[in-house]
Amino acid sequence: MTIKAPPTLNVPGMGADPLTQRIKEKQKKWRYKIAVLSGKGGVGKSTVAVNLATALAKLGYYVGVLDADIHGPNVAKMLGVDKAEVLAEKLEDGRFEMIPPVNDFMGQVTPIKVMSMGFLVGEDQPIIWRGPLVTKAIKQLLGDVKWGELDFMIIDFPPGTGDEILTVTQNVQLDAAIIVTTPQEVALLDTGKALNMMKNMEIPYIAVIENMSYLICPHCGSEIDVFGKGGGKKLAENEGVGFLGSIPIDLSAREASDSGIPIVLRDDSVAAKAFMEITRKLLDDLGVGEQSNSE
Ligand SMILES: Nc1ncnc2c1ncn2[C@@H]1O[C@H](COP(=O)(O)OP(=O)(O)OP(=O)(O)O)[C@@H](O)[C@H]1O
Ligand SMILES: [Mg+2]
Repeated sequence: MTIKAPPTLNVPGMGADPLTQRIKEKQKKWRYKIAVLSGKGGVGKSTVAVNLATALAKLGYYVGVLDADIHGPNVAKMLGVDKAEVLAEKLEDGRFEMIPPVNDFMGQVTPIKVMSMGFLVGEDQPIIWRGPLVTKAIKQLLGDVKWGELDFMIIDFPPGTGDEILTVTQNVQLDAAIIVTTPQEVALLDTGKALNMMKNMEIPYIAVIENMSYLICPHCGSEIDVFGKGGGKKLAENEGVGFLGSIPIDLSAREASDSGIPIVLRDDSVAAKAFMEITRKLLDDLGVGEQSNSE
């Protein structure tokens, strides 16, 4: 006896709805999809995401940054495009696609494409959405945006292991997860949760970055271990994942993110050097090489 196949159900996440389908198609044009996350807030995820993106663009790669922090988006500001207007293009099928604002920092880097919920809501407007709406918004930022060909898609997440990360891992085949932590033990405990979530999701490459590792004394230039050093490396070793490096507390890093010019573009800073080294190690680990494929 043969049974007629049931009609395809329109279950979100099951690949049948058009938005899910579009995300599936679009990501074929993104060579490496990298998540930046942590179990803890305020450890420097967004700082790492924008500096990694800028470092990659400085090396000639085509980079997109998706701010998946729906409730507290700040990537656009950190990349100097928060005042940009998001235009939309009408497609043949009548749909509109958003065009991501870009910044090339006056020709210093290949243009970085940025998309964030921050563009679509007012600066002081709090977003009080529940899970399903967050999921829909993230999916639209992935599937209804004209991302085009990218060497790297960097996705910055809010703290924790909530709806945003679930939505992305269910819809995007991530190549790498970068876990940001500070050296403190409490941060490490929370970070371990995010790390294990990535392990459970079977992300092929997972690595830890230790941010705010030590302070460079502005007077004498010596290193001061504010939170105790080396915890990030220990976490990576214990969990059997990669360790990409440490970034010092650099007062100009904060100024840089407020001014919209990532610290990695200030060649003289210690944090910039650390970010460039981390980026090169990541390229090595992923086996990418320094040549952009989009040239
Ligand atoms: N290495 C650093 N040196 C100095 N300041 C830093 C450094 N890294 C991050 N900061 C500053 O710390 C603050 C928090 O950083 P950031 O917003 O990147 O953290 P986050 O983990 O993304 O936070 P959230 O959990 O709110 O998303 C910012 O003001 C940022 O400029
Ligand atoms: Mg952030």
